[in-house]
Amino acid sequence: MVEFALPANSRVGEGRSFAAPAGTTRVKRFSVYRWNPDDGQNPRLDHFDIDLDACGPMVLDALIKIKNEVDSTLTFRRSCREGICGSCAMNIDGSNTLACLKPIEDIKGAARILPLPHMAVIKDLIPDLSQIYAQLRSIEPWLKADTPPPPDAERLQSPEERKKLDGMWECILCFCCTTSCPSYWWNGDRYLGPAVLLAAYRFIADSRDEAAGERLDALEDPFKLYRCHTILNCTQTCPKGLNPAKAIGEIKQLLVERRT
Ligand code: SF4
Ligand code: SF4
Ligand code: FES
Repeated sequence: MVEFALPANSRVGEGRSFAAPAGTTRVKRFSVYRWNPDDGQNPRLDHFDIDLDACGPMVLDALIKIKNEVDSTLTFRRSCREGICGSCAMNIDGSNTLACLKPIEDIKGAARILPLPHMAVIKDLIPDLSQIYAQLRSIEPWLKADTPPPPDAERLQSPEERKKLDGMWECILCFCCTTSCPSYWWNGDRYLGPAVLLAAYRFIADSRDEAAGERLDALEDPFKLYRCHTILNCTQTCPKGLNPAKAIGEIKQLLVERRT
């Protein structure tokens, strides 16, 4: 069984180990970050040996099995279990992704499961997303238009106008991208990060929205937007295959164009 060696200076200690039932032939180890704000203990990694013949194929299946059968105090978010709600985002095997979309068989050796990086932890695998949600609210992610809609009809778009939203409407706000961004790690209190900037561009690019000018005014700020240095971690990690770095580039381009 492969063990994870924690760095010598890590504040995450070794935790408990839970063996698989006797006679199990296909054992997989899941090493899971644990921290409980109420017990006064430092964070630790607990190790759970799971019978893969009695477990579903995804990492989320293993976490649910652990919670149901081994340790009911293990705490994590999940809802849809099919990559739609964004709630099961965590760091698995070194990358931010969705536990419900991550096949166990893709992980060599023991599976190391940590919360999304560089975020305050509420408990175990649950990061505190309050700051990111406040930032999302700040870009006013809803359609703004003073012109009344046509009577008895929706605000229509041409197929070309609608197509401009592809690659943005699919975002499920899992924040795998934002929490993989070094600029967000260091300046997250002022830099909006890729997920929120993608959401901002989704409304700037919407032909039905009439507030693009004021949206761009609000983003023209050395920290909110320009902390992006095109490192591209965000695009590499997005479990939905989206490209927030491109959206950030489009916002910067619009700001350049309106200055010229
Ligand atoms: S491209 Fe920009 S937003 Fe994406 S990871 Fe790099 S700095 Fe962060
Ligand atoms: S762009 Fe991708 S990684 Fe970022 S929040 Fe949206 S779905 Fe998640
Ligand atoms: S449980 Fe909804 S995205 Fe994973």
